[in-house]
Amino acid sequence: MPSLPAVAQHNTFDIAKIRQDFPLLEQKIKGQALVYLDNAATTQKPQIVLDAINQFYRHNNANVHRGAHTLSDNATELFEQARTKVQAFINAKHGHEIIWTKGTTEAINTIANGLAQSLLKPGDEIIISAMEHHANIVPWQMAAQRSGAKIVVVPINEQGELNFSIYKALLNNKTAIVAMTHVSNALGTINQIREIVQSAQQVGAITVIDGAQAVAHCPVDVQQLGCDYYAFSGHKLFGPTGIGVLYGKERCLEQLPPTQTGGEMIKTVTFQQATWNELPFKFEAGTPNIGGAIGLAAAIDYLAGIDRAGAIVHEQRLMNYCEDLVLSMGDIQVYGRAKNKMAIFSFLMGDAHPSDVGTLLNQQGIAVRTGHHCTMPLMNELGITGTVRASFSLYNTEEEVAMLFNALTKIKTFL
Ligand code: ALA
Repeated sequence: MPSLPAVAQHNTFDIAKIRQDFPLLEQKIKGQALVYLDNAATTQKPQIVLDAINQFYRHNNANVHRGAHTLSDNATELFEQARTKVQAFINAKHGHEIIWTKGTTEAINTIANGLAQSLLKPGDEIIISAMEHHANIVPWQMAAQRSGAKIVVVPINEQGELNFSIYKALLNNKTAIVAMTHVSNALGTINQIREIVQSAQQVGAITVIDGAQAVAHCPVDVQQLGCDYYAFSGHKLFGPTGIGVLYGKERCLEQLPPTQTGGEMIKTVTFQQATWNELPFKFEAGTPNIGGAIGLAAAIDYLAGIDRAGAIVHEQRLMNYCEDLVLSMGDIQVYGRAKNKMAIFSFLMGDAHPSDVGTLLNQQGIAVRTGHHCTMPLMNELGITGTVRASFSLYNTEEEVAMLFNALTKIKTFL
């Protein structure tokens, strides 16, 4: 039986070694060294992930759970090992609480559609926050429209932090669901998920956490958080695109109806009706992204092989350095100044349009994201249409922050 490859160990955080693990970072853009600061959109992939995907398609490609041959056994073994790695990575109690999805968006849609069918009724309330990504707003709007429930929004304060006292005041016996992001993709705010979940549980609400921006930057323990559901994407965690995870407590997943149907998710089918397979397969209709799951497992192995605590400190240091440097330029408006904040720096330069700043940065080899960051309601609350966002990862360096600063200084002279 094949097994997932062993990992190169970095025992202490060594940025030079880390960068060597990510081949894409070596390239030039517009003739200049690439400075990749768009990690909240997607992360680059270490060699171990590229190798695992290549190895799978080169040696073990077959469909899972259905073949009567060696390759199918090998693929199934690798695919299920990958599930076990994810289980350990987020400390889920059972392997069958890990459902493969395309990403965070599909995971939240699966939960929202299932709960619209099985739980929500007219008058119920779904609490979200003002800092949610569209992927944690629109599925709930659809669920509310279908069930007669309504969306209630918790505001944020000037720093971009959740207003916890208003949140607590909004909770009541009509609150059916609390759906919140762990970390804001636009502001970097880290929400106090354990406290949010504990308060929601006091009124018997189901809790759904969007972990897309958290998993690559802090350890996630779903049992410690206590949430009913937790969703994240592989590609923001150094894994491939098109693979993600829906974690649900066994009891919740047992009660949630599947909303995608087809092969693999059934136990029996007649022309009139079907019965559902056991967890996790009930939610995995059709051929899954096998290579993606294997690539994600390799990314998790990669993280296990580095000094993660050191990486977190490194990212925080980069963000603080970036804030100090860029703010020293003057005429900079920063969005998101939470006390607990991930390495995301969202800003505007005077009255320059964010997309102009992004284009001019790109000409100097610097990749950032500009615009509303799929958080249009948040931008409306802030009274702006978008920001420039530099988002850091463990492979970024202080030299890159200085390059961003130099590039912005140059831009300032002709904008
Ligand atoms: N949600 C991703 C971002 O914030 C795509 O950029």
